[in-house]
Amino acid sequence: MNKNIFGVILAGGNGSRMGNVEKPKQFMQLGDKPILIHTIEKFMLNSSFEAIIVLVPHQWIKHTQDIINKYITTNIANIFVIQGGSSRNETIMASIKFIEDNYSLNDDTIIVTHDSVRPFVTHRIIEENISYAKLNDACDTVIPATDTIVESVDGNIITSIPNRSNMYQGQTPQSFKAKKLRELYLSLTEQEKDILTDACKIMVLKGEKVHLVSGEVYNIKITYPYDLTMARAILEDFNRC
Ligand code: CTP
Repeated sequence: MNKNIFGVILAGGNGSRMGNVEKPKQFMQLGDKPILIHTIEKFMLNSSFEAIIVLVPHQWIKHTQDIINKYITTNIANIFVIQGGSSRNETIMASIKFIEDNYSLNDDTIIVTHDSVRPFVTHRIIEENISYAKLNDACDTVIPATDTIVESVDGNIITSIPNRSNMYQGQTPQSFKAKKLRELYLSLTEQEKDILTDACKIMVLKGEKVHLVSGEVYNIKITYPYDLTMARAILEDFNRC
């Protein structure tokens, strides 16, 4: 059956903020397997996906295939490892091109895009992303902001303090009708592409509705070495439950 829903795991970055490590953070070990494998496994729990596309830097394609073969034993025929792009949005565009070339891309094709370095995404979050992306053209996973957000345009003086109850922190997945997202992305100037690093922001600035999906506090993004320490603690906690 043509499900027309694709899991898109964004692992095309180099993890420079993680510091001097010999491999990008998505390939670092978390518990008994690499971070990326934890993330792929969460997507594999969902039977709605026609395929799961994993996008990595070119020189890490073979390594990614090797670890998938090593750690994942079932249904690996539906996992495709391909080269990511020069930016996060270009990586998303590479996934859409792959779908167009290998499946069919139509107005209803949905991509559920997810940071490879958020290994604690849940089945519920993925399910809700799929439901809202079917209803609307896009949705974004968020949690309510816990800290007051202070805006400063020049970095010295406060410009505004928005009402905290209207503020959320963005997580992933972010899910889209793929054709619509590409259409809007291609309509941007090169300068706008540089500024619009968040895929949902493209939709918002073009006047499209982006529905909110409730995330989880523990759906953290591993960015700095400290986050890896946090991730190990979360994993230990989950293993105890
Ligand atoms: N990503 C991607 N393609 C890119 C850049 C980033 O798929 N060209 C992915 C990363 O692999 C990561 C996610 O987007 O899973 C979130 O990005 P971020 O945490 O910023 O990752 P990096 O770009 O790898 O990290 P850094 O900014 O520290 O270099």
